[in-house]
Amino acid sequence: MQPHLNQKLFSQLSVVIAIFTITLTSAIAQSGEKPHPWMNPNLSPDERASMVLKEMTLDEKISLLHGTGMTGLGPVSPLAAQSNGGAGYVVGIPRLGIPAIQMSDAAYGVRSSGENGRYSTALPADLGAAASWDLDAAYQYGALIARELRAQGYNMSLGGGINLTREPRDGRTFEFLGEDPVLAGKMVGAVMKAEQAQHVIGDLKHYALNDQESGREAVNVNIDQRAARESDMLAFEIGLQDSNAVAVMCSYNRVNGDYACENKYLLTDVLKKDWQFKGFVVSDWGATHSMAKASAAGLDHEEPGFIFYGSDLKAGVEAGKVPLAEVDDHVHRILWAMFAAGVIDDPPRKSVVDVEGGFEVAQRIAEQSIVLLKNEAQLPLDASKVHSIAVIGPHADVGMISGAGSAQVDPPGGNAIMPPGHGQTIWANPVWFPTSPLKAVRAKAPAAKVQFDSGGDPASAAALAKTADVAIVFAYQWETEATDLANLSLPEHQDDLIAKVAAANPHTVVVLETGSPVTMPWADQVGAIVEAWYAGSRGSDAVANVLFGEVNPSAKLPITFPKSENDLPHPTVVQPPSESIPNRRVPSVWRQIAAGLVPFQVTYDEGVKVGYKWYDAEKKAVLFPFGYGLSYTTYSYSKLKVMAGTNPRVSFTVTNTGSRAGAEIAEVYASLPAAAAEPPKRLVGWSKVKLNAGESKEVTVEVDQKYLSIFNVEKKGWQLVPGEYTFMVGGSSLDLPLKETVNLR
Ligand code: BGC
Repeated sequence: MQPHLNQKLFSQLSVVIAIFTITLTSAIAQSGEKPHPWMNPNLSPDERASMVLKEMTLDEKISLLHGTGMTGLGPVSPLAAQSNGGAGYVVGIPRLGIPAIQMSDAAYGVRSSGENGRYSTALPADLGAAASWDLDAAYQYGALIARELRAQGYNMSLGGGINLTREPRDGRTFEFLGEDPVLAGKMVGAVMKAEQAQHVIGDLKHYALNDQESGREAVNVNIDQRAARESDMLAFEIGLQDSNAVAVMCSYNRVNGDYACENKYLLTDVLKKDWQFKGFVVSDWGATHSMAKASAAGLDHEEPGFIFYGSDLKAGVEAGKVPLAEVDDHVHRILWAMFAAGVIDDPPRKSVVDVEGGFEVAQRIAEQSIVLLKNEAQLPLDASKVHSIAVIGPHADVGMISGAGSAQVDPPGGNAIMPPGHGQTIWANPVWFPTSPLKAVRAKAPAAKVQFDSGGDPASAAALAKTADVAIVFAYQWETEATDLANLSLPEHQDDLIAKVAAANPHTVVVLETGSPVTMPWADQVGAIVEAWYAGSRGSDAVANVLFGEVNPSAKLPITFPKSENDLPHPTVVQPPSESIPNRRVPSVWRQIAAGLVPFQVTYDEGVKVGYKWYDAEKKAVLFPFGYGLSYTTYSYSKLKVMAGTNPRVSFTVTNTGSRAGAEIAEVYASLPAAAAEPPKRLVGWSKVKLNAGESKEVTVEVDQKYLSIFNVEKKGWQLVPGEYTFMVGGSSLDLPLKETVNLR
């Protein structure tokens, strides 16, 4: 039976190949052209790029090194009319078969779909996705984004934000993957791997240390090299290694004196030489500040336009100010990236986005992202026993908040709190997704009386809460690119609202929709706290599934929740002085930015002590620690064994000691020998273990030696400091019941 089947399959396949070959040959014959030799996919991307490069004129080379412009950010070329509507458009070279690069922002979904008359799914924001600690979920996240990018006609993504959260008031915290370089690096690696597997150019950003939005175009970040390599830069190193992403976006800020986009240390010494990155560096939008300096430092491509890398660069080459070999290297990198990512062999074809499929993925990932922070036997709610529920909170009747700026995804039907017909989303304005907590709760408890109060008047909300079996307060904190948060408090007097509701009803559940940690002066008064982040297109269904126990929460915090801003490494976010702020009253702000603003200083003297490493080292108590999250079941840990070796293997057993199935994120930390002079511990690995009630599993986590090493600046490399390493295992950075010390050298 089998050989016969194979034969049949083979002959069918031969027919398909024959038809394909005839069609291809006749297409070529009709056009009268021979296929370009570099279109042979059996050649390496390197060979293919070199072959194309040889055929290119200087004008064609220059055309690949810049975008076509964006209103407000410099001159705009008439060619921009052919853009697909994304943030960046680079013309193709049809005579050589090189397609255009169509770039779109795509942090938690494809941006600008509204203004282009398209649709895209909003996944839970990146920080939420990091809370799943789930590399498969991260892969699904990237795969969905890539599918929707391709369906909309894009071949390059501008997602992949991994600036570590040094400053939780950073307005882009929601777009990044938390405070730990290993977690952030692994997660972004999985997202980018998925995007590139679907032949979309993946991009990691914003390289590097773009850790605050205030004065981002002028700020000079001072940090010592070892601290930079072991924190923010390590996240990029891991992400690139895991994904082979072929693009990196350099950031707006300066690092130790030089702008990131003309910083030789960052772009050439580390990225291109040490990490052997073969792809191209694209500037953030308006982050190019020079021609010769930037080119020599390793910037390959200017976006969004051609202030420096257009006719100036051509003239620079002709005048011998920029060596042609340097330009050739930039071009080769871009061509290499296009061949390596498959955008030339398999260009995107526009099609209808799978809306239902997107909803499904968004909800599943949201369910894995929601962190249960507190639960005094309040959750899960039993719909058969709860007779009345008060749903309270701003706009909780119609929607859930999302994160804004270039990450913003446009909701179907428009902003949920705008009048119908005014659905357009405006850059850096709050957008509520039409995913209604009230409706989702009603659907879960059809027999209960579910009433709503916006919370605008805390006294009326408290009066409603008093009459209900349970009060659920949906509280939010909105954040956006370009602005930092003033503090970590919930806005709109929501702390007062929650305190009043909790005083009226001890069975109060708080659901947080935040992009950063928030302080919770009411934490002791409420029965349960759920962190839902910016939960995406299907956020309310995911939250309701957790509240009513259809989903057992498993997520853990990728970021510390401090007790107060006073505990942060920096009491305030340093603001730019007036001379560092572009004068927005003059028509061409971009000229001032391009010319370079007067720098102001931010010094990261906490060094490598980012997030939990800071609180550990400073012995500061926190509200909820990194790696923390509850479940509706409980777990125990036993039988730790550490096998020393180049990459030590840490084995242990996790047992589900409760009465329902769940997934436990088992975390492995290590403390280094005293001679390493490092913070008390660092995350070195984890495993997400699915366990039925009562079930035990042995887990082995192999620890990459780099995660145990320090960066030796003199030797310019990672170094394992010989001595005693203590491995610690458990369910949160502050709950590590297993410990074993081994000697490593
Ligand atoms: C942001 C980038 C974004 C770019 C294009 C910039 O303002 O910093 O993250 O990719 O705009 O929209």
